[in-house]
Amino acid sequence: MPDPIAIATTRDGLRAICATLRDGGHSLALVPTMGALHAGHLALVAEARRRADRVIVSVFVNPTQFAPHEDFDRYPRRLDADATMLAEAGADLVYAPDAASIYPPGDSTQVHVSGVSEPFEGSFRPHFFGGVASVVARLLIHAAPDVAVFGEKDFQQLAVIRRMTLDLGLPVAIVGAPTVREEDGLALSSRNAYLDPAQRAVAAILPATMLAMRDALRRGADAGEAEATARAALIAAGFGPVDYCSAARADTLEPVLTGAVAPGDFGNTRLLFAAWLGSTRLIDNCGLDG
Ligand code: PAF
Repeated sequence: MPDPIAIATTRDGLRAICATLRDGGHSLALVPTMGALHAGHLALVAEARRRADRVIVSVFVNPTQFAPHEDFDRYPRRLDADATMLAEAGADLVYAPDAASIYPPGDSTQVHVSGVSEPFEGSFRPHFFGGVASVVARLLIHAAPDVAVFGEKDFQQLAVIRRMTLDLGLPVAIVGAPTVREEDGLALSSRNAYLDPAQRAVAAILPATMLAMRDALRRGADAGEAEATARAALIAAGFGPVDYCSAARADTLEPVLTGAVAPGDFGNTRLLFAAWLGSTRLIDNCGLDG
């Protein structure tokens, strides 16, 4: 049984610990999370451990990335269990800030990333990336890590964070880690806990449909037709609405609406899916070359 992990609950507390670690010659990695940790998060911690010699995991359910009608209130919160998992996974510090450490009273600063944040999630959840960029910028400034690790499961989020980091000149390497999946292919997500057993049985049809679309595009199918086929398969399985199930350029997130994808472009093409199953929204993505 490892020792309990240290938890910093204020920005200044975190800064003091990070300064001591850096003075001791340690490199730092940050893994930002909203808690309710699962094996996907632990894979991010493992990646962080490979990249730096001390690993900080932030746990903060960020209100600014939820619209008023979304699941902020019911989002699972279990810091004690998360802290135990993180100690066992070999993380060194949890940053579970109070709200005022992230958004001081009177806070008036938001980070807006245009371009990559606009299609897909940006059009269905217009508040989302502003909230993500605003909190991640603060977390990166507070911890000042050498490396920060994010899951490729939120592929567009990763693109937005890369863009923001580049534009603001933040001195941190942004690392993406591959999606971790259940045996039936469902991508791990804290929101999978919302699925009832019948929905859980259907949920894996989403990644299966995505892989079928990938294979069709690899065989030269038209992107618009492949999208229509995928949408129909999801609806027939009980998903709905299907927000998107499209091909996009991996670097710019610009949708690929029609035509075949040339084999030379497979490496820069990503399939992005978001669909509702009852009151749970599932997202997923994969590369055309994977
Ligand atoms: O991916 C998440 O869990 C969140 O969007 C993040 C990056 C921790 C920001 O709140």
